[in-house]
Amino acid sequence: MENKDKALWSGRFAGSPAEVMQLFSQSIDYDWHLYKEDLQGSRAHAEMLHHIGILDQREVDNILEALDEIEEEVENGVFRPKVSLEDVHMNLEARLIEKLGALGAKIHTGRSRNDQVATDYRLYMKKTIKDLHEKMLTFLNVLLKRAKADIDIIIPGFTHLQHAQPISLGHYWMAYFWKFTRDIKRFQNAYTNTDVNPLGVGALAGSTLPLDREFTRKKLGFASNSENSLDTVSDRDYLLEFLFSASTFCLHTSGLSEDLIIWSTSEFDFLELPDAFCTGSSMMPNKKNPDALELTRGKTSGVLSSLYDLMMNIKGLPLTYNRDLQEDKRPVFHTIYTMNMILDVLIPLIETLEIKEENISKHLNKGFLLATDVAEYLVLKGVPFRQTHEIVGNLVQYCNQHNKTFNDLTLEEWHMYSLNFKEDIYEILSPKKSVDRRSTFGGTARSEVLRQISNGVELILELKLD
Ligand code: ARG
Repeated sequence: MENKDKALWSGRFAGSPAEVMQLFSQSIDYDWHLYKEDLQGSRAHAEMLHHIGILDQREVDNILEALDEIEEEVENGVFRPKVSLEDVHMNLEARLIEKLGALGAKIHTGRSRNDQVATDYRLYMKKTIKDLHEKMLTFLNVLLKRAKADIDIIIPGFTHLQHAQPISLGHYWMAYFWKFTRDIKRFQNAYTNTDVNPLGVGALAGSTLPLDREFTRKKLGFASNSENSLDTVSDRDYLLEFLFSASTFCLHTSGLSEDLIIWSTSEFDFLELPDAFCTGSSMMPNKKNPDALELTRGKTSGVLSSLYDLMMNIKGLPLTYNRDLQEDKRPVFHTIYTMNMILDVLIPLIETLEIKEENISKHLNKGFLLATDVAEYLVLKGVPFRQTHEIVGNLVQYCNQHNKTFNDLTLEEWHMYSLNFKEDIYEILSPKKSVDRRSTFGGTARSEVLRQISNGVELILELKLD
């Protein structure tokens, strides 16, 4: 570790920090991610200092030129940050001072690392949310494509993981489409609350210098200026909103993964997962394991923990900035990385998985999926629902005892339970009919799935983030 560099705050100290303190205190190994935004913030700040007469034209030009050079140095690996300079802000500032001497030392006029880090982070999160948003729209499009392609495939719908009623597979994909749509809206909301300019509030109380916050707001492209300096340097709500949005997204991907894992087992055998997203066993040559989906499920815990990590960090902090807040980065960066990976895996996996329609249809005869249809048939003949429920329950018992399905029963057998059964009972005993008769708004009927798909296509256009 290089520890010879004097900290930019060293003036008040007679001694230098212990080596272990430098290690404990540094954030450079993770906040270096913010170098671009830090330079962007410094450019806006320098131009504002010129605008209010603190830097002259030559000075601001030199600073801007040096900041561009530093960016190049970082990008081509010439300039590497030092642990002894603690964080991204002091590393870049120290480099500017190294290049420009006394002029470089003017950049921090009216600025604190407290408003600087808030600015960098908000700029970074705006870009991150936009990128994730784009990827999530691609994911939504894949779900729409699958819903269209699989609309006529009928699968058993489950409650309690037991056969319940037949549904269209298109309807299933659309269920996740709507869940992810709500996630996207939550990210949009997080974006709106991120889009606020912190720069110019100083360490906590504002500045005695005539800083023009509106000038930097425009330069940095924020929608508004933060209203209260104390709130600004302590606010991490926008990160909590991001982490909560990521958490619901991951809960959804985890549930979806679980279904697909179950459906890929030889017991279900509803689908074949693409080889590209499975792995084998080091011992058992027969194995094809759904690891991508298991990892999606598994990595969700890390994302949920990130939300709790940051909430716990913030709980009970006195106003305003406290060094605890430096720990706000690891959980968020971890979540960004994980979400990107999950999307990169799930998008092609869902696009290319193969549905085994014939195998699925074998399952449709099991579990008396049409029991509710039969009960509702009797309702339409005037029998009170509770009675129809009992009658059909008894019929299921009878069938189980005699190893029969509804389709095997003769009219005489139906009549043993109710004389309201007529010849037309056989007309409703098809999974396809059952699905198409469920045409209530939001139901699984083909017509309703088509309505959802067309609403979904329109919604995706509205969900664009500008
Ligand atoms: N590296 C710090 C952070 O990420 C910013 C510095 C503020 N430090 C301070 N002592 N006021 O929060």
